[in-house]
Amino acid sequence: MTTQAAANLQSYSTRLITRVNRTLEKLLPPAHTMPDRLHSAMRYSVLGDGKRLRPLFVYAAGEAFSVPLSELDHLAAAVECMHAYSLIHDDLPAMDDDDERRGRPSCHKFFDEATAILAGDALQTFAIEVLSSPVHGTLSADKRLAMIKLLANAVGSQGMAGGQQLDILMDMSRASLTTLEKIHILKTAKLIQAAILIGATASDALSPAEADKLALFGEKIGLCFQLRDDIDDIHEDSKTGAETPSFVNLVGLKGCENKLETTYQDALAALNGFGDRVASLKMLAHFAAYR
Ligand code: IPE
Ligand code: IPE
Ligand code: MG
Ligand code: MG
Repeated sequence: MTTQAAANLQSYSTRLITRVNRTLEKLLPPAHTMPDRLHSAMRYSVLGDGKRLRPLFVYAAGEAFSVPLSELDHLAAAVECMHAYSLIHDDLPAMDDDDERRGRPSCHKFFDEATAILAGDALQTFAIEVLSSPVHGTLSADKRLAMIKLLANAVGSQGMAGGQQLDILMDMSRASLTTLEKIHILKTAKLIQAAILIGATASDALSPAEADKLALFGEKIGLCFQLRDDIDDIHEDSKTGAETPSFVNLVGLKGCENKLETTYQDALAALNGFGDRVASLKMLAHFAAYR
């Protein structure tokens, strides 16, 4: 990445991360209200130091269709709450059993397992509540309903939860590229895809053909993001000796990097014909794949 490109990404993301953080701070239930332990756990996990990639995709997709930022804030916040829920549950002892998240103790380590489960549950429904609330913007009820459907679908059995189930059951000695790709798409790409489609759905101008292209872009770039995560996790796996379902474990580092590059090109190709208005989406795509 050139120095200029890095500076552009930095200023773009800083501005929007500030916006979504402010929105989350305001929307999440205050820590001192009953049940304060649950509210503290929700805030602890959401307001931790994340990259906010999914909110950034909401903003960039909205921007491509000239949606005002003020209409996108709560959509971006809702998607981040859903993501935070998935991280809390992913770290639980029955799942990946991770003690750390976002550079500090994972939710169940800092609080306790029951609180972490409940914080995840509550964040999931909170995300839906935020999307459904007319008070946060001027979006029509039809649009809000479409967004709820997109988000619910992305995290259910045909999305993140389904992918997590397959991830847990995966036997790496019998893994194939096709099944591993399917798992990655479900557990990670679907939510990123939903973030993009939710941002674009806020517009009156989105055509079905454009939505299809954005959906393809979202799937491909979400896959890139998980491939990059697998590459970055190499060190961690070799440390623990864990045979986690990852492309690196299946086809090696070089194979995974090749897969990442071809998938990244597929993602960009899906944006052909959109012109300059998808410049921010492309910038974030590069970040997702090569951060
Ligand atoms: C981690 O997501 C979980 C995956 C889907 C790979 P992120 O890497 O986006 O986590 P944060 O939000 O920056 O903490
Ligand atoms: C997490 O995948 C995917 C989720 C749905 C949360 P990983 O288990 O590979 O991600 P990290 O490495 O814990 O962030
Ligand atoms: Mg996991
Ligand atoms: Mg994990």
